[in-house]
Amino acid sequence: MEAARGGARFIAFEGPDGAGKSSVAERLATRLSAEGHSVLLTREPGGTRLGELVRGILLDPASVARAPETDAFLFNAARSQLVREVIRPAMARGEVVVCDRFADSTLAYQGYGSGVDLAMLRDLESRATGGLRPDLVILLDAPVAVGLARRGRGDPTSLTRFEDETRHDAAFHERVRRGYLELAGADPGRWRVIDANRPRDDVAEDVAEAVLRFLVASEPSNHLERIHG
Ligand code: TYD
Repeated sequence: MEAARGGARFIAFEGPDGAGKSSVAERLATRLSAEGHSVLLTREPGGTRLGELVRGILLDPASVARAPETDAFLFNAARSQLVREVIRPAMARGEVVVCDRFADSTLAYQGYGSGVDLAMLRDLESRATGGLRPDLVILLDAPVAVGLARRGRGDPTSLTRFEDETRHDAAFHERVRRGYLELAGADPGRWRVIDANRPRDDVAEDVAEAVLRFLVASEPSNHLERIHG
């Protein structure tokens, strides 16, 4: 059997609700597999038995009252299990891990959106992940009204607690979007901002191009060339 290309890498998708992350992440995973990479696609919250149970509590609009700080602990509990049970082992096997949302969602939603202290969230994150951070973060950016309209056209029973307007209005989603753009602007080496307010095929194509370029540039042999060449 031909060896898988490249080596372990961790790529996260981020963005506001309705930006199309899940379908674009799926298409990327298919494309990378076709290019010979060994790929593992997972998501947050979820990705493990525990994570899917916690997801049920977190996203159910009818779930019990909670403070945003409590949400942050729950998201990080699911994250801790996902890192240990799924992401680290896949990386140890040399796979490219593609994760639909990761820790920056907590900074954007609970931090920028709901006002939880960012330093506390970063501390919590590093304890939950053991310091693991994505090598590359793809931000699918779209105006809030576009994302909410896309979600609004879908099945209303699939709307999550975070899309319920009585709890999270358009101003909340504006803060989330601004938070993401601030995070991306502060770390441009790790983030790529993709305009998601375009036809899905164009978005998926730009994402694939950005990721493939990143994978080539970060291959260990290219690192050596850069250091010694
Ligand atoms: P999901 O149905 O996966 O939405 P999407 O398709 O937009 O990713 O629901 C995830 C919801 O949970 C989404 O509204 C964002 C929110 N969320 C947080 O608030 N904090 C987090 O740390 C994570 C991972 C998600």
